[in-house]
Amino acid sequence: MSEVQIEQTGLRSRMVGGLRPEHEGEMLVLAGWVHRRRDLGGLLFVDLRDRSGLVQVSFGPDWTDGASMDRAHGIGHEDVIRVEGVVAARPDGARNDDMATGGVELRVKTLEILSNARTPEIPVYQAPEDELPSEELRLQHRVLDLRRAELQEKLILRHKLVLAARNYLDRNGFVEVETPILTKATPEGARDYLVPSRVHKGEFYALPQSPQIYKQVLMVAGFDRYFQIARCFRDEDLRADRQPEFTQIDVEASFVEVDDVLGWMEGLIAALAEVSAVDAPIPFPRLSWKESMERFGSDRPDLRYELEIEDWTKATADLDFGVIRSQVEAGGRVRGFRLEGGGRLSRREIDGIEKAAKAAGAPGLLWGKRSEEGASGPLGKFMSDEQADRIGLHVGDLVLVSAGKDSLTSPTLSAVRDAVIDALELPRVREHAWLWVTDFPVFDEEDGVLAASHHPFVMPHPDDIADLEVDPASVRGTAYDMVYNGTEFGSGSIRIHEPELQRRILRVLGLGEEEIETKFGFLLDALSAGAPPHGGIALGMDRIVQRFTDSPSLRDTVAFPKTTAARALFEGAPTPPGESALDELGLQLKAPDPQERGEPEA
Ligand code: AMO
Repeated sequence: MSEVQIEQTGLRSRMVGGLRPEHEGEMLVLAGWVHRRRDLGGLLFVDLRDRSGLVQVSFGPDWTDGASMDRAHGIGHEDVIRVEGVVAARPDGARNDDMATGGVELRVKTLEILSNARTPEIPVYQAPEDELPSEELRLQHRVLDLRRAELQEKLILRHKLVLAARNYLDRNGFVEVETPILTKATPEGARDYLVPSRVHKGEFYALPQSPQIYKQVLMVAGFDRYFQIARCFRDEDLRADRQPEFTQIDVEASFVEVDDVLGWMEGLIAALAEVSAVDAPIPFPRLSWKESMERFGSDRPDLRYELEIEDWTKATADLDFGVIRSQVEAGGRVRGFRLEGGGRLSRREIDGIEKAAKAAGAPGLLWGKRSEEGASGPLGKFMSDEQADRIGLHVGDLVLVSAGKDSLTSPTLSAVRDAVIDALELPRVREHAWLWVTDFPVFDEEDGVLAASHHPFVMPHPDDIADLEVDPASVRGTAYDMVYNGTEFGSGSIRIHEPELQRRILRVLGLGEEEIETKFGFLLDALSAGAPPHGGIALGMDRIVQRFTDSPSLRDTVAFPKTTAARALFEGAPTPPGESALDELGLQLKAPDPQERGEPEA
């Protein structure tokens, strides 16, 4: 665990984790928690725990004073004790090679019980074969759960990563500035958490979804390079990779181009990799958004695996298969994966992959296998050997195909790719796959409704600005995402620094002049005060820690996380407000709709 420079405090001589045979004979005072105890009647052994690790302390009539011996028989798990004694090397047969301190023990002269623990609801000591209690129980009793070395190590690594980030950014001339938590909506595509104002009844602050607008304003103010380890709040549907409050390494700089930001961020990741077990060879490869969607169907492909989408629209043009024909006639394409040796997948396994395709919105998945007798399957049966050869479907292989508009086939094939990787247990070509995805479109269009694909402040590609009003969906932006092993780590762009262009984008997004003024007037005012060209990025700290520690959930990277139902189980939040609080705020609650009571599981 983590080394502490000066371990001695008023109540103890040192922490326990670093004790080694060379300390033999030292008279020490140690203090900590009773991790595990074995009472053999005459002798009693305790594993004493502090943040640095464990050490065995032993009690025996030959070296422990009588009153302490009596007290020792009464101590229980998780009591806090203080012991004074002599470090002794353990005899050969009594060493414990599984423990860093297993070569020594402290022979206790005197014992003091500093505090008694109630019977722990969940055990802190775990034998290797023990299963962890349920996550719900662990979150309720987080104070005990956080005593586990695994969680402590993750939080300590988090601290080191944050420190490395601060130091790196400081070395590169970035200044940390705190921006407000009680603020005005900053749009990042989620709902806001609102805080009622007591002084201005009927008015609300919003908690920031990110410091986006403030960091841009700081550029106008001349800070040149800003960063913040920033807490962000988003009321969105939660998943394993999302928390309602989370932390960003938020960065912005003036007079920069895309390459400047990406270069700094690669340096930052290299600095973070140094304090963890992750490899981050820089520079990271880059893919344009278009190419990424074309080859992988996703804007955050997991490049630990090589599987790529192929376009068979031409190769299947003479196929007499109505489903494909109608999709192509409607402007769609025929795309899919060729899986060498995939013919070994069972019907059930293919059904499983199709289920993933359907969950991504596809009506179904077309597939074809080929054996010595020819091609078969819903698609294969329409293929002659010559047609199968054309798309590389050879004997023993499998093709998985989606036909339709790219907006459907891309997410479908991305989900299929993930499912195939699992089903075929595809080998990894690398363990740490870093990637920049660049040139995201400025807008997303769904059913004719335009939304900002990142946020409304992304600078459009200069060549596309003329098309803003006429063909907004085609406008490329200067936005980029950092991707690690299929997870989006961060996202940023060059920003609009001209108020007029910013207004145009907001209008294209459907905002009226009044709404533009109320929501973004303060940004537009700032931009008209002389704004430098600027750009930046925000990396998700929680996701970095989650991936760097190989944790199944973001909840393992936060001391007091929320469940997927957005509840804090340890402290019990949220809670209904008291009548007097509501009165003071001038608020009245509507009776909750019983239909809305059901909560997703933790
Ligand atoms: P974006 O919304 O993409 O960009 O967020 C940046 C990064 O923050 C992390 N993240 C989250 N982590 C945990 N829980 C969440 N609910 C959550 N939401 C986002 C992700 C994500 O990549 N202002 C822009 C950045 C910019 O343009 O500079 C922004 O917030 O890792």
